[in-house]
Formats: sequence, C-alpha cells, structure tokens
Amino acid sequence: MTENLPRTSRLPGFYQRSLPERAALIAQWAGLDPDEQGALIGITGLTPVQADHMIENVIGVYALPLGIATNFQINGRDYLIPMVIEEPSVVAACSFAARLVRDSGGFTVASDEPIMIGQMQVMGVENVYAAAGKVWEMREELLNRANMTDPVIARFGGGARDLELRPLLDTPAGPMLVIHLLYDVRDAMGANTINTACEKLAPMIEAATGGRLVLRILSNLADRRKVRATCTLAPHVMKTETMSGEQVVEAIEQAWAFAEADPYRAATHNKGAMNGMDAVCIATGNDWRALEAGVHAYAARGGRYRSVTRWQRDAQGNLRGEIEAPVAVGIVGGATRVHPAAKVALKILGVKTARELAEVMGAVGLAQNLAAIRALATEGIQRGHMGLHARQLAIAAGASGDMITRVVETMIAEGQIRLDRAQALVQQFKG
Ligand code: MEV
Repeated sequence: MTENLPRTSRLPGFYQRSLPERAALIAQWAGLDPDEQGALIGITGLTPVQADHMIENVIGVYALPLGIATNFQINGRDYLIPMVIEEPSVVAACSFAARLVRDSGGFTVASDEPIMIGQMQVMGVENVYAAAGKVWEMREELLNRANMTDPVIARFGGGARDLELRPLLDTPAGPMLVIHLLYDVRDAMGANTINTACEKLAPMIEAATGGRLVLRILSNLADRRKVRATCTLAPHVMKTETMSGEQVVEAIEQAWAFAEADPYRAATHNKGAMNGMDAVCIATGNDWRALEAGVHAYAARGGRYRSVTRWQRDAQGNLRGEIEAPVAVGIVGGATRVHPAAKVALKILGVKTARELAEVMGAVGLAQNLAAIRALATEGIQRGHMGLHARQLAIAAGASGDMITRVVETMIAEGQIRLDRAQALVQQFKG
C-alpha cells in the first residue's frame, strides 16, 4: 500500500477496506516497522514467555480484537484511537460520534496534574487530632522521605506534593487517622510509586504518633487526576432520517436527565462511556479496573450515583456535552511498555504524556456516551446491533468468507437471528 495519507483521522470508507488494507493504512499513519505491524496482527505479539513474566500460573495468552476509531479531533489535533474490545458496534459508534463532533469543531480537553493519592491508616492512637498534629509537624520531613522513593519521577519534575490529614471518628473499628500522601507521578500510572512511598513513611509515622500503621495503599478514587472533555454540536448535525436536529438534541437532553436523576439508568449510561474509555485503557496496557473503580466512585461522590457526563442545550440551542472523571493511566511502567501490542497502540495514538493519554480517553468516553444516547433516543440500538450479532452467530456457526454475508442476510431477512438457524444455514450452504 503506497498511498500518501494526509495527517487526518478522517478516513472515509476505512471500515469497508479489508483487514490487511486497514492495517497497512495505520502502519503508514504511525510509521510502524514490520515487527510492530506483526504485534498488531498477533504474529509477534505477546508471547507465552513474556506472559509468564507478567502474572502467575500462566498457561497461555488470550487475544481480543483491536480496532481503530477514526475521526477524532482533540484540541485541534487529529488522533486515530486504538480500542481493544469484544463488543460489536462500539468502535463504529465511537467513530460516528467523533465525526459529528469533528463537524462541529472537535473536542476540547484539559486535565489536572497527574497527582495520585496514597492512603495510610493509623490505628491505636489515644487522640486522632493530637496524632494528626504530630504528623503535620513532620510534614516536610515526610515529603522529603517520600521523594526519595522514585528518583526517576523526581528527575522528570514529579514527586511528593502534600499531605492531607483525615481523622475518621466513627468507623466500625473506632476512631482512626487517615493520612493522604499526594504524589505527582508524571507519566506513570503511579501505583507502585505511591505504594512504596506510603510503606516507606509508615515507620516514621508510627514513631511520631505512637500508633500502628495498618493499610498503606493508593486510592483508586484519583480525584486529583481528573480529565475534562467538552464538545458543542450544532442541531443540524444531529438530525436523523425521521427527526429534526432540534428534536434529537432535546431527546438527548432528556436521556441525560434520566441518568442524572436515576442511578439505575446512570449505571448503564456511564457503562456506555466506559465502553470507550476501557477499550483505550486496555489497548494501551493500562489498569482498567483502576479506571472503572475511580470513575464509578467519582460518579457517586455526592452521595448518589450520577452521570459522569452532562448533555444540555446552550443559549444558542446547541448541544453541549461534557465529561469529568478521574483517569489514572500511564505511558511508562506496567504493561504499557511490556505488552508488544500496547506499545504499538501508544505509538498509533502518538501521545507524549500520560496526561495527553488521559485527555484522549476523556474525549473517547464522551464520544461513546453521545453515540449510545443518540441511538437510544432516536431509533434505538437494536437495529444496528442485530446485524453485528447475526455476523457473530454466523462465524460461531462455522461460516467463513462470503458465506458469512449469506448467512447474515438470510437470518435478517427471515427475522430469525439465532445460533441454531445460523448452524442450519451453514449446513445448507455447504451442501
Ligand atoms: C451497551 O454496551 C452500552 C449502552 O447500554 C449504553 C447506554 O445505554 O447508554 C448502549
């Protein structure tokens, strides 16, 4: 493939190309060498030997589809987004929403400094306030000690920033003092750094307070490390075959209001945003459980679980979307630099810092949420889903090549999208 690609993520017809053509286009976009290309299609990907060094009791490796969401423009820059996910429709929906946003000026993103919170639990002190005072007196000493844990992070301008003292008086185990260590982890996700720092501080705190340190661990409610992404869509880009743009905008506002008011809906609404954020998190070798824990805890910060996004009309009648959530991800350390496909995913994204990665993920979450609620508030999501579901059934029934399309089209025409029907059709077409 020798096409000269302009540096745009708008790649019309990308989805209609064959897998090798798509892979070649992306290789050209990102300047991938043959080894890196091999990592994407599983030839030189994660080996069992590498896997054996990552976790325990390894017996193999487990592959998932890696797709590319197109059309993203974020703070004026074009991105192609690698997404690892098993669920059909997500990548297409994300690309579609990014296209709508692109036509309205793209996403605007911002983020906090990459500050993680480490928690230390002090038990057995007579007076938690007096103990807090003692810890505060040695604040400088503790921050200096914490700074010694990771010289690399310190060299890049990170390090311990502050302490917070949180006496918890009424717990099932009685009063306790909780100390937060705020630590700028720069381009790391930071779990190891922060856990090590907390463990290093423990003896000093025990000596000063006379208490006993029980837990020393990061908090996944990384609310010092939030991203914010926004977009504004003119009503005319929102119209469908059967609804005007104004009607769609109003329906989306109502869909968001439902999630804002009802935790049962908010869980599903936020899951839609996480479809996008998790897929990038996994593609880049990051800890998606940490991301999930943080986002959902943040969604419940006011005492009731709410939407992490907001969709409302502005004074001009445009639809304004916004997401705010903690996103603790890194571009160094962990699997990000060990998993061959994660390294390539980061190269395709072209992000230079962990903050930039988090900001991209914020935009992807907002796009995914928009795609879901737009579909739900207009034609419903089943029509699009059923085609893809039928395709999966056809493949599961043993169809390959052109037979997949024949099986899918027959099942859709008959209105019978079931595995037993797919199996029967495969037998019939083979015969
Ligand atoms: C499905 O994976 C995600 C949705 O349920 C999200 C939503 O309901 O907003 C479609």
